[in-house]
Amino acid sequence: MEAIKVDNLKKTFKLKLKQVKALDGMTFNVNRGEIFGFLGPNGAGKSTTIKIITDLVRADSGSAYINGIPSTNHKARADIGFMPENPQYYDTLTGLDMLLFSASMFGYKDAKTQAYKLLEEFGLEDSAKVPLRKYSKGMIQRIGFAAALIHKPDILILDEPMSGLDPIGRMIFKKKMKELNRQGVTIFFSSHIIPDIEDICSRVVIVKDGKVVKDFNEVEIKYLTTSGFEIVVKNASGTGLDMGEKEISKNLYRIDCDKGNLINTLELLKDKRIEIIDIEPIKKDLEDVFIEILNG
Ligand SMILES: Nc1ncnc2c1ncn2[C@@H]1O[C@H](COP(=O)(O)OP(=O)(O)OP(=O)(O)O)[C@@H](O)[C@H]1O
Ligand SMILES: [Mg+2]
Repeated sequence: MEAIKVDNLKKTFKLKLKQVKALDGMTFNVNRGEIFGFLGPNGAGKSTTIKIITDLVRADSGSAYINGIPSTNHKARADIGFMPENPQYYDTLTGLDMLLFSASMFGYKDAKTQAYKLLEEFGLEDSAKVPLRKYSKGMIQRIGFAAALIHKPDILILDEPMSGLDPIGRMIFKKKMKELNRQGVTIFFSSHIIPDIEDICSRVVIVKDGKVVKDFNEVEIKYLTTSGFEIVVKNASGTGLDMGEKEISKNLYRIDCDKGNLINTLELLKDKRIEIIDIEPIKKDLEDVFIEILNG
């Protein structure tokens, strides 16, 4: 059974004079054990989808399920941790109280040790007793993530968890996501930060205008972002090789070839009995791929 199933969600928001179609048949599954990246431009419908999965908004039609339970049933939320896009927490609570309060909502009474552990992991140990109204944006993101984890959920749903974080914060979050995933936690997160998605996701779904436009697994992400290969060879001089090779040090030459030309290039090198030292992919940004897809 899928961790999350989203089936043909449609949602139109009614504003005074106009109607905004936020979702237009949004359909995808998040498999158990994945780190699933939900990527799309502003207004694509990411947060609306997440709000329907967490039952903060009801769909006009279609359904969402968590662990096979309809999202409109409160039991669906028993095993999830959720961090909203623009968290509004009770700002008179201290960081520590916020974590204990979150834990108590899931029935955890004795969460103090776990709370201190998380405060330390997220670099908030000195602010444990400081009220949230004195926290910076990045500190709120950190406490929000810790609060989503305190009850050890099986599924984490995070709406742009890393926006507003400094590079160290992003590193802490990514490390934690990978660690949790190794322990079996399924992670579903939306983001605009393409390198972060590239770093940690085993699957990426790209959405636009309220529906899915592309669905890539890890291997496809790697293939899409590879534009060619850099081959390093030895002792190529005097072999009549004419492949635009550049000498990079004594007797070592670098040849660049297009993605579709690797086999031909390797066969030519083999025919000439040229020794291959190394083959590395030449990468282009997922950002470029993303823009190509959205324009196509
Ligand atoms: N409560 C609402 N009332 C009216 N329109 C809304 C409401 N919530 C969302 N929308 C509209 O629905 C569309 C999808 O919004 P949504 O917040 O789901 O996008 P998003 O992909 O999360 O974008 P972003 O990357 O900017 O967070 C937008 O056009 C937005 O203006
Ligand atoms: Mg959003």
